[in-house]
Amino acid sequence: MPEYQDRWKTVKVELEEGIAWVTLNRPEKRNAMSPLLNTEMREVLEAIEIDEAAKVLVLTGAGESWSAGMDLKEYFREIDKAPEAFQEKIRREASTWQWKLLRMYAKPTIAMVNGWCFGGAFSPLVACDLAIASETAIFGLSEINWGIPPGNLVSKAMADTVGHRKALEYIMTGDTFTGAQAAEFGLVNKAVPLDRLREETRTLALKLAGKNPVVLRAAKHGFKRCRELTWEQSEDYLYAKLDQAMHRDPEHGREQGLKQFLDEKSIKPGLQSYKR
Ligand code: COA
Repeated sequence: MPEYQDRWKTVKVELEEGIAWVTLNRPEKRNAMSPLLNTEMREVLEAIEIDEAAKVLVLTGAGESWSAGMDLKEYFREIDKAPEAFQEKIRREASTWQWKLLRMYAKPTIAMVNGWCFGGAFSPLVACDLAIASETAIFGLSEINWGIPPGNLVSKAMADTVGHRKALEYIMTGDTFTGAQAAEFGLVNKAVPLDRLREETRTLALKLAGKNPVVLRAAKHGFKRCRELTWEQSEDYLYAKLDQAMHRDPEHGREQGLKQFLDEKSIKPGLQSYKR
């Protein structure tokens, strides 16, 4: 863990039990995503992806916020006057971690939404594989309230998780909703009382950490990609992923699973995982 300690100014990383707890760490600015935070988050994701000790990544926020979205001062106002090419670079850096890296990350990811979650924060929220929120966390697509339509992949993230009517309702009104409501309409997997949030997230993270990582990656990538493909393409792609997983899997999970069920009769794969 020492290599992560105090390495970044706006992000804190702690590695425990195979879980990389990544905390957006600007509580005094409600963890708004500034250009520096965006660059540091890219570095963090790149570092953890190749760290064999990290099996699962949890993304959370310091203090009472998950993230208040893009930094209105440092990401918008201060960049407005910069040369156009520089603005492109700043945008690219934000997108790189917020969805390009995170969405197809090599390891399982969980958003642990502890509090405020606004605007631009919806991109990394939905890019994470799973999400658990505090029942009392407050979510909002506030863009309309300060004069812009949602940018980055915020609307796409809503379209990908929430139904048409609900998504448009919140995009068009800017009304807030709670973690409990977010769970009801599928933006997060579940909502729990704040005092149980970390333990619930830890339990889920440890469950994922116990699975075969090669197979887990193929499964989540396959699901996410095939949402955008035709049925024919999906079949091809998913079979290719399956073959890739079997080819790459050093522990030969499929053989183990078949042997333990068919020969040893020691597992029921419908009810439990094969023994690794
Ligand atoms: N960008 C930049 N700074 C932000 C920020 C953002 N998105 N959200 C909060 N901050 C800053 C405030 O400017 C303030 O800074 P200051 O202490 O230097 O004045 C500090 O964080 C605390 O914010 P404050 O509004 O006093 O906190 P609060 O707890 O009363 O309210 C929020 C929290 C999240 C409801 C409120 O800060 C807010 O509405 N933020 C904007 C959310 C938003 O529209 N995000 C969309 C961006 S795409």
